[in-house]
Amino acid sequence: MTTTFPKNFLWGGATAANQYEGAWNEGGKGPSDSDMLLSGTYDKPRVFTKELKDDGYYPSHLGSDFYHHYKEDIKLLAGMGYKTYRMSIAWSRVFPNGDDATPNQEGLDFYRSVFEECHKYGIEPLVTISHYEMPYHLTDKYNGWGNRLAIDFYVKYAKTLFTEYKDLVHYWLTFNEINIGMMFGGYMSLGMKVKDGSAPFNPKQTDEDIQNNLQGLHHQFVASALAVKVGHEINPDNKIGCMIAGNVNYPLTSNPDDILKAQQTNEMMNYYCGDVQVRGAYPHFAQRFWDEHNVKLNITAEDEAVLKEGVVDYYTFSYYSSNAVTTDESKGEAGGNFTMGVKNPYLKYSEWGWAMDPKGLRWYLNDVYGRYQIPIMVVENGLGARDVVESDGSINDDYRIEYLQGHIEQMKEAIKDGVDLVGYTPWGCIDLVSAGTGQMEKRYGFVYVNRDDNQVGDFSRTPKKSYYWYKKVIASNGADLDN
Ligand code: BG6
Repeated sequence: MTTTFPKNFLWGGATAANQYEGAWNEGGKGPSDSDMLLSGTYDKPRVFTKELKDDGYYPSHLGSDFYHHYKEDIKLLAGMGYKTYRMSIAWSRVFPNGDDATPNQEGLDFYRSVFEECHKYGIEPLVTISHYEMPYHLTDKYNGWGNRLAIDFYVKYAKTLFTEYKDLVHYWLTFNEINIGMMFGGYMSLGMKVKDGSAPFNPKQTDEDIQNNLQGLHHQFVASALAVKVGHEINPDNKIGCMIAGNVNYPLTSNPDDILKAQQTNEMMNYYCGDVQVRGAYPHFAQRFWDEHNVKLNITAEDEAVLKEGVVDYYTFSYYSSNAVTTDESKGEAGGNFTMGVKNPYLKYSEWGWAMDPKGLRWYLNDVYGRYQIPIMVVENGLGARDVVESDGSINDDYRIEYLQGHIEQMKEAIKDGVDLVGYTPWGCIDLVSAGTGQMEKRYGFVYVNRDDNQVGDFSRTPKKSYYWYKKVIASNGADLDN
């Protein structure tokens, strides 16, 4: 059997602390902004509460309890033959308030043990420095990334990690899905203050929101570039990447208005952030967008120099689904928490309203590789679905296998097209809480976690059918995708 995947292809899986780690107030950890988010459902958005409610369910507080299961979990990942494991560090476990003078040693020790455990099995950690969270104190006192001071707090945090884990971690990502703050507003990825009871995602942005989000995002760009610089100084072997929510927007029709709308949407959603982080400068179309939305950014000459010096070593992105866009307002919007645009009649949709489109992944890989020409990794991909535990305890998730097969096939095509794809880490490799809805029932994993949305279950782990299938995929380096 022959394979298209390169010899050292990084097969693995991905998780994030705020959805998986739990132990939100143990080991000296401070509350993060994600710890203030109640659970929601497909129809009912999650909301932020300024004070924790005694009877409220905050899913990040226990997550999937990785904190107390990490040895067992990493062994399970090793059992699939993982070469890499993408995870994030909870900023508030290292700096509980964000502006502390010194880090929390117990937090540093925890991650050291996690990385050592990975290396025991030959698994290379791939670490996201900030995945949808910051210490809540930084939100409450400073308005998160709305404040330029956040740059200093972040760089100090990143420097601590690069120094502490110099010999244990060599692959880093500065921010998860950095473009989400721009698309959905300030709380979830920019840590900005919102009113009690607001949803963390808001697709309807006013010009004032856009101004605030883009300024906050600019602070993140500068922080990311400074982290890249300092990370390279501490260890020249460090490979530091960006992470973008991969947005594939097709024109609904061949009407030139739809074609232009798709082009403009792809540019703003993908290249606005990608260009700054990969090329070191804002793209040509930014100024017109700013002018049309009355945006005036505070960008200093020093910022511009930093952005140029701190470009990333590789490009990573998440890909779940594609969108169709049109200027015809009568078509209405598609469902789903993160989806935008209108229903694409050629695609099937998941229970949560996300279009399933493996070919969109090939399109995106070619599109971004053509623009940037640096190594690429798909660091999130997968199907959020309800799983059924059969009476014999088995979980037969053929729908998940089918989804992943289709996407891996398209990665193969992209490699044949000439794309330098170096790794693949499907999302939520062990079940975890959904970021969008806060639900546990929207599962992505190869491993089932016994916990439900009524907070019932002992967190025990059971490999699903897809676990054995993915093990075979990795063992054959992607040649054998059969179920
Ligand atoms: C990405 C995020 O947007 O999608 C993850 O980086 C998230 O944190 C994933 O979990 C899937 O989204 P959801 O809403 O199904 O959890």
